[in-house]
Amino acid sequence: MRNITIAIDGYSSTGKSTIAKMVAKALGYIYVDSGAMYRAVTLYAIQNNFIDYSDFHVSDFLGELDKIKLEFRFNPGLGYSEIFLNGENVERAIRTMEVSNFVSQVAVIPEIRRRMVQLQHKMGENKAIVMDGRDIGTVVFPKAELKIFMTASPEIRAKRRFDELLSRGEKVSFDEVFRNVQERDHIDSNREDSPLIKANDAIEFDNSELSIKEQYQKVMRLVRMTIEDLE
Ligand code: CDP
Repeated sequence: MRNITIAIDGYSSTGKSTIAKMVAKALGYIYVDSGAMYRAVTLYAIQNNFIDYSDFHVSDFLGELDKIKLEFRFNPGLGYSEIFLNGENVERAIRTMEVSNFVSQVAVIPEIRRRMVQLQHKMGENKAIVMDGRDIGTVVFPKAELKIFMTASPEIRAKRRFDELLSRGEKVSFDEVFRNVQERDHIDSNREDSPLIKANDAIEFDNSELSIKEQYQKVMRLVRMTIEDLE
């Protein structure tokens, strides 16, 4: 079967990565969570005091970018890759509210985006990849054979993320999560460099009312149709 590139973009907490992981596993493709990369860079900035309270010391931080080594390592037990920051597995540490509160401010910075996109291009050079994020179909892989743009109502997205954080033992309120989801959507959609927008040729679907199984089946149908059309 022909290998393709699958780009899944959309607003925060739309469940992109859940579906992307399942699709990658079924196809034997690499899965890359591009949001994890921006989150890991943010974690580094927090840990090294480039972000304190609400101040972000951007120019000092940019001088340190060379010290940040990101890597995805496949975890056979889980069936997908986890992100490592300078050799340490940070898969859990990057999902906290603290990181969520700053990540969109880090992701507006063009120098950081350029680096991430370079790494993403490398990972996708042999196709057979599912990557999710905000600018995958527009900037990272504008020639991806299949582009999906996922949406869901803000309330539903915040509820999903709230439940996820609670199940991990984080003490958060629904309102805090709801505000964060809306704030990130706003910053991500309005930034100058690579804003979150639907690519012209992306297939949009609202998954507010769909189960995970239904979403997965829908995406797999689109994958089959895309590959058939190319053959
Ligand atoms: O999983 P969730 O929807 O919370 O977000 P994520 O995919 O982990 O992405 C976290 C943040 O990284 C986003 O809110 C964006 O600010 C940024 N991001 C980006 O700018 N470009 C991407 N391709 C992926 C994420």
